[in-house]
Order: sequence, then structure tokens, then C-alpha cells
Amino acid sequence: MVIRPETADDASAIRAVTSAAFKGAPYSSGTEAAIIDALRNAGALTLSLVAEEQGRIVGHVAFSPVTINGKAGRWFGLGPVSVEPSEQRRGIGQALIRDGLERLRAAGAEGCVLLGDPAYYRRFGFVSDPKLRYGEVPPEYFQRLSFTGAEPEGEVAYHPGFDTTEQS
Ligand SMILES: CC(C)(COP(=O)(O)OP(=O)(O)OC[C@H]1O[C@@H](n2cnc3c(N)ncnc32)[C@H](O)[C@@H]1OP(=O)(O)O)[C@@H](O)C(=O)NCCC(=O)NCCS
Repeated sequence: MVIRPETADDASAIRAVTSAAFKGAPYSSGTEAAIIDALRNAGALTLSLVAEEQGRIVGHVAFSPVTINGKAGRWFGLGPVSVEPSEQRRGIGQALIRDGLERLRAAGAEGCVLLGDPAYYRRFGFVSDPKLRYGEVPPEYFQRLSFTGAEPEGEVAYHPGFDTTEQS
């Protein structure tokens, strides 16, 4: 398996893997694939990595800038992240996430936030900090990973691309 940044030819395969991964998930908005397109179109897809196996895209992760108390900085949001259903639980998701976090860190990011199951994300070092909030989401589901030791406080906002209502 190879993990590499997306190229212009990957957009439709990314859409397909994202739709397949989130299909039927109770927490899915059904808009995850459209969000990735919206971020890309807005130039806000800071990092978009694909997992490729024998020429086939089997996983994807996106990172985009977030604001804290309305201020842009060097914090990024992880997601959506997807692995083809038949290929899940083989380590592809972890490999994508670890690679993405390492690239962000190397590029000078201060940290990363995400909304997700703490049981999955704590293995990467994500922790919940009630001082860093995201709307009405229960604090344990909103997590951060600081690369610098900084512990920012306030309300996080994702890029407006996440507000897309287009169903995939
Ligand atoms: C979440 C997702 C990207 C993980 O990718 P993956 O390749 O299946 O995951 P990995 O193989 O790297 O990791 C599997 C490990 O995570 C665990 N795991 C997977 N999902 C989990 C969850 N929701 N909660 C707790 N553990 C979870 C597995 O038990 C396994 O643990 P183990 O290695 O100790 O057995 C993938 O399952 C997926 O596409 N899900 C649907 C879309 C989605 O929910 N995206 C994330 C939204 S926040």
C-alpha cells in the first residue's frame, strides 16, 4: 500500500470511497464526499492523502484549516477520513492518519482537532480538552493533538466547506 497526496485524477475515486465508507453510518450527514469537493474548490484542502493498493484507491484523509475564536492560525481539522468498507480494520485508516499528522507537523502546524470516537483517536495522541470547544458537541468527542505543547482555548470553527448540504 502506498500513501500519497491526491492528484487531479483522484477526485472521483475519493468521492466514491468516502460515500461508501459513510453510507449507513448513524453519525453520517451524507455530505462527507461533497465537503471534500467544497474544500478543494475553495483551496482549503490543506492536505489530502490517498491510500492506494494495486492502483486502486482504498482510503482517504483530508485536513483543512480551522479557526479558534474566529482567528486563523496553524491549527487544522482532520476529516473526513474513510476506508473502503471491505478494507477496513487492516490498518489503512491508522496509516493515513499517522502519515497526515506527520506531514502537518513537518509543515509547521501547531496542532490538529477532530470530531470522532475517542476510543479510536486516542491512539494517535488526541485528547479532549473542555477549554477547546466545538459547538454543542459533547466534549469527549471533540479532541485535539498539540504538536507544540500549546493548549489553545476557545471555540473552534471548521472551514465553510463543511456547511455544504449537498448529499453524495
Ligand atoms: C474510521 C476508519 C477510517 C478507520 O479505518 P480502518 O482502516 O478501518 O482502521 P484501522 O484498521 O486503522 O484501525 C482499526 C482499529 O481501530 C479500531 N476501530 C475502528 N473504528 C473504531 C471505532 N469507531 N471505535 C473504536 N475503535 C475503532 C478497531 O477495533 C481496530 O483496533 P485494533 O487495531 O486494536 O483491532 C474506517 O473504519 C471508516 O472509514 N469508517 C467509516 C467512516 C468513518 O466513520 N470515518 C470517521 C468518522 S470520525
